[in-house]
Amino acid sequence: MGEKTTIAEIGQFEGKTVTLSGWLYNKTHKGKLIFIMLRDGTGFIQAVLFKDNFQEDFFEEIKHLPQETAMIVTGTVATDARAKGGFELQATDVQIQHVAQEYPITPKEHGIEFLMDHRHLWLRSSKQHALLRVRHRIISACREYFDQSGFTLLDAPIFTPAACEGTTTLFETDYFDTKAYLTQSGQLYMEAGAMAFGKVYCFGPTFRAEKSKTRRHLTEFWMIEPEMAYCDLDQDMDLAEGLIMHILDRVLSKNRGDLEVLERDISKLECIQKPFPRIRYDQAAEMLKEANSEFVYGDDFGAPDETLISEKFDRPVMVSHYPAQVKAFYMKNDPADPQKALCVDMLAPEGYGEIIGGGQREDDYETLLSKIQMHDLPIEAFQWYLDLRRYGSVPHAGFGLGIERTVTWICGIKHVREAIPFPRTMSRIYP
Ligand code: 4AD
Ligand code: MG
Repeated sequence: MGEKTTIAEIGQFEGKTVTLSGWLYNKTHKGKLIFIMLRDGTGFIQAVLFKDNFQEDFFEEIKHLPQETAMIVTGTVATDARAKGGFELQATDVQIQHVAQEYPITPKEHGIEFLMDHRHLWLRSSKQHALLRVRHRIISACREYFDQSGFTLLDAPIFTPAACEGTTTLFETDYFDTKAYLTQSGQLYMEAGAMAFGKVYCFGPTFRAEKSKTRRHLTEFWMIEPEMAYCDLDQDMDLAEGLIMHILDRVLSKNRGDLEVLERDISKLECIQKPFPRIRYDQAAEMLKEANSEFVYGDDFGAPDETLISEKFDRPVMVSHYPAQVKAFYMKNDPADPQKALCVDMLAPEGYGEIIGGGQREDDYETLLSKIQMHDLPIEAFQWYLDLRRYGSVPHAGFGLGIERTVTWICGIKHVREAIPFPRTMSRIYP
C-alpha cells in the first residue's frame, strides 16, 4: 500500500507510491499493458498495468471488468505530458472492491430521456461532473460575495401562506386544516430581514408550477436573493454587477479545467468587464422593433426577445423600467413615469436571457395596499408584509439570481436541466 490520496492531490506525490480509491471509467489493453482510466470523484487519471507485475489470471480478469467496477489501485506517480492532468500511475497493485454489473451508460450516444432516467449514474460522467463542480463554485462565490460585504444570511421558509410571483405558478399543498404554497421566492421575508439587519440574503430552493417546457424553466430551482434597506434601483444594479464579476473571477481562476472539459469558449467569459450596459425597457423594445420581432410594446419580453436583446452585447445587459402592469405587485413605480416599475432584469450574453430579476420595492403603505388589492391577493396573508410599511418604512431593493440559469450560461450548455443534480420539470420527477 502507498500513501492514500486523491487524483486532485496527485501532483504532490511525483515519484512516490500512492493508493487511489475509485471506479473504473474506461480501459483498453495492448500486448503486455492494460490502460485503466480511473475516477475517484476528484478527477480522472490513467493507470498503466504491466503484465509482469500481476498474476496472469488476475491480469486477464482486469481486462474484462465492467465500467464502474470499484477498485483500489496502488502505484508510482509519474509525470506524463500527454496525460490529462499531467500525471499517470504505474500500477503495482489492484484490489477489486466490487465488480459492477454491465453499466447502462456506455460511450455511445444515448438519448436525453435515457440519460435523465439514469441521472443518478449520469452524474459520474466527466461532463456532468464538470458542470456540477462549476455549480458548486458559483454557489460558494455568491456566498463569499455577500458574506464579505456585510450581509447576514437569513433563511426563508419553504411553506408560505401566499404567492410572491403570481398565482398561476403556485404549488399548493395541504397544511393541516388549511392550504400552504411552496415558496416561489424568499423576497418578502428578505424585506423583513433588511429592516432588521440592513443587508441580508437567502439561498434556497424555490418552486414554480411552470407548465412551459422550455430550456430555461425548472419547477424547482435555486435562487440567491439579497435585499438591502436604504437602497435604490441604481445601487441594486451595482450589487448585481459586482456579484456577476465575482462569480466569473472565481470560476475562471478555479474551474478552468472544468470549462475545458465542457469545451466552453473561455474567451467569451474572460472579456466580460464592468460596467455592464444599463438600458431601459423602451430602448430594448426599440431594438426588437428594428430586428422585426413580433414583440408588442407593453408586453413582457419572451425568451426569443431576450435572446435577441442579449445577443447585441458582449457582456450581461441590465434592462430596467418595464411597464408596471407586467411586473409583480411589490415593485415600486417610477415617480418620474408611474406607468413604469423600478425593476431590473439582467440578461446574460450569447442569447442566454434572464439570469437575475429584481428592483426597488414599493415602500408606501397605501400604494402597496392598493396593489395587493388590484392583484386580487388575499390581504390577510399580507398583513405581516404591510407591517413593514407601518413601522419604519424605507426605500429598499434586492434581486434574485437563478443558480441554474447562471450555471447554464457560464458552462455554455443548451438546457437548464443539466445545471442541477436532479432536475424537476413538468414531465420529470424521477429519479
Ligand atoms: O425574476 P424572478 O421571478 O424574480 C423573483 O422571484 C424575485 N422575487 C427575486 C427578488 O427580487 N428577490 O426570478 C429570479 C430569477 C430569474 O431571473 C431566473 O434566473 C430564475 O430566478 N428563475 C428560474 N430559473 C429556472 N427555472 C424557472 N422556472 C425560473 N424562474 C425564475
Ligand atoms: Mg423575472
